[in-house]
Amino acid sequence: MLPTDIDDMTVLLGDPEVMRFYPAPKTREQAAAWIAWNQRNYAEHGYGLWIIETHEGNFVGDCGLTWQEVNGVKKLEVGYHVAPRWQGQGVASEAAAACRDFARDQVGARELIAIIHPDNRASERVAEKIGMQRIEDDQPASGSRRIVLSMQL
Ligand SMILES: CC(C)(COP(=O)(O)OP(=O)(O)OC[C@H]1O[C@@H](n2cnc3c(N)ncnc32)[C@H](O)[C@@H]1OP(=O)(O)O)[C@@H](O)C(=O)NCCC(=O)NCCS
Repeated sequence: MLPTDIDDMTVLLGDPEVMRFYPAPKTREQAAAWIAWNQRNYAEHGYGLWIIETHEGNFVGDCGLTWQEVNGVKKLEVGYHVAPRWQGQGVASEAAAACRDFARDQVGARELIAIIHPDNRASERVAEKIGMQRIEDDQPASGSRRIVLSMQL
């Protein structure tokens, strides 16, 4: 993910359908902050959310690894967003499986989680398909309920 991805990321994260389970779609400024956050993660950890694209170079979405706090404990999470026209073709499952393998083989992580809105069945299904099971609910201070799926690597 590079600053030059700002147009594609603004469309992706500004899409009400893609952001249905978030507080609100993101503005262009917030999409720029998202890119900057991932660039900081690359510098600090060597990974973050990456761009998903086709072999031809068409923008599809993002997927990758970030550290998130669950009930006060930092855990490695796989996250994914796929543009509506590319959904339902197995893209998120393929990308998330590659991130799981990267977390195990390159990061050396022992556990991988996914934090998901309780009504987001598509996201939960992707997590299940890469081998995760629901372990706990998380109630962050912000108040929105989230379920947590996890797997040992
Ligand atoms: C979640 C998301 C990334 C899935 O992307 P995708 O590329 O369409 O996912 P895949 O095609 O790999 O697989 C989706 C699975 O969920 C299932 N699914 C999709 N919509 C569903 C729904 N509404 N209810 C139940 N299952 C659903 C699919 O059938 C498929 O499972 P299957 O292979 O067993 O049939 C995509 O829907 C998205 O970007 N959503 C908005 C952003 C988001 O919520 N991200 C996750 C934040 S935690």
